[in-house]
Amino acid sequence: MTQSITILGSTGSVGKSTLAVLDLHRDLFKIEALTANTDVASLFEQCCQYKPRVAVMADDAAAEQLAVQLKDAGQTDVEVRAGHAALIDVAGSPNSSSVMAAIVGAAGLLPTLEAVKAGKRVLIANKEPLVMTGSLFMREAEASKALVLPIDSEHNAIFQSLPDDQNKAGVARLHLTASGGPFRGRSWDSLSEITPEQACAHPNWSMGQKISVDSATMMNKGLELIEASALFAMPAQKVDIVVHPQSIIHSLVEYLDGSFLAQLGAPDMRIPIAHALSWPQRIASGAQTLSLFDVARLDFQAPDMANLPCLRLARSAAEQQGAAPAVLNAANEVAVAAFLERRIPFTRIPRVIETALEQLASLDFSSVDEVLKIDNEARQVAVSALD
Ligand SMILES: NC(=O)c1ccc[n+]([C@@H]2O[C@H](COP(=O)([O-])OP(=O)(O)OC[C@H]3O[C@@H](n4cnc5c(N)ncnc54)[C@H](OP(=O)(O)O)[C@@H]3O)[C@@H](O)[C@H]2O)c1
Repeated sequence: MTQSITILGSTGSVGKSTLAVLDLHRDLFKIEALTANTDVASLFEQCCQYKPRVAVMADDAAAEQLAVQLKDAGQTDVEVRAGHAALIDVAGSPNSSSVMAAIVGAAGLLPTLEAVKAGKRVLIANKEPLVMTGSLFMREAEASKALVLPIDSEHNAIFQSLPDDQNKAGVARLHLTASGGPFRGRSWDSLSEITPEQACAHPNWSMGQKISVDSATMMNKGLELIEASALFAMPAQKVDIVVHPQSIIHSLVEYLDGSFLAQLGAPDMRIPIAHALSWPQRIASGAQTLSLFDVARLDFQAPDMANLPCLRLARSAAEQQGAAPAVLNAANEVAVAAFLERRIPFTRIPRVIETALEQLASLDFSSVDEVLKIDNEARQVAVSALD
């Protein structure tokens, strides 16, 4: 049966990888909607190539430009919509059965949640909504019977290594692997002159700018720890981080009897994307097959926590729960954006986050509106901590 799919964030790294997998299986998937923020050129090209029923640009002026360009190109079958409300609307629309959540950051929270509330198959790359709302997000999925399938390679690996019924009864611990990013082995104090270009040059993965900086600070692994804890209902204390520079083992599940089950593959996002698109079947992803003889060896190290202040802050927020993960996430988004704009040095990122946590981590929430209020407050504190 053909799956009708909406891709939130189709112009980003995960969005493009998703389209690359869909290219191999045009008979299995129909594209309902593609969305972006401001990248008119990319969304225009995608509309011409994939002819979605709807194209949404979060930015109003960008949507106007897209509409003009599509009209001039004779692509009048694509309905162009503008703004955040339109994003939420297409995410929950009954015209699609599946939604790929690949917007970056907290901007994806309400659209992703809308897809969850509509009981869809939700492929979740956008980890920030899960970090912000944790168990509340998963309760919504349970209530609507949405199928939440992880796209983050680590969480996808854990999903694949758990029993078919996802029963956690025999599970002792989860082990998230981390490449260690571009600055593995360096002391934190030696990183004060790091530029955005250096931080975004990841040794194994090609990704968007924000997640690349998060990987360089190892905040990404901290966000993944919080994400894993929410997705798999596992206390943060039972989720370990292991540095594995080759990025071949994507994560492991440790069972009570001493067995470890892991998922291995080339570091290519098309693999978890193809897995989640076709689950419980398997389809080709287009990724290169792993040659075990070329890999030859796999190394593992404990993370050097003394030199990873962002990972320390994230672990502490994960263990504290309440609003701490949402505060951490919001302050991190502000600090990373400021670093990418060259307004603060790389090494100031954790200081900004720490200031927000000191002021707001003890808050709690019981609704999405309250999370959004906390997110907003944390951003304000973080902005004042930039100077
Ligand atoms: N890249 C990876 O390999 C990878 C792996 C695992 C998980 N993830 C997660 O997947 C998510 C996406 O990552 P990415 O690397 O694909 O990011 P990216 O390349 O920066 O793409 C982000 C996408 O979101 C859109 N967007 C940005 N701000 C928006 C806003 N305010 N409203 C609506 N749309 C907005 C962008 O549109 P424009 O193009 O118009 O700006 C783009 O389509 C992140 O949460 C990341 O942590 C990524």
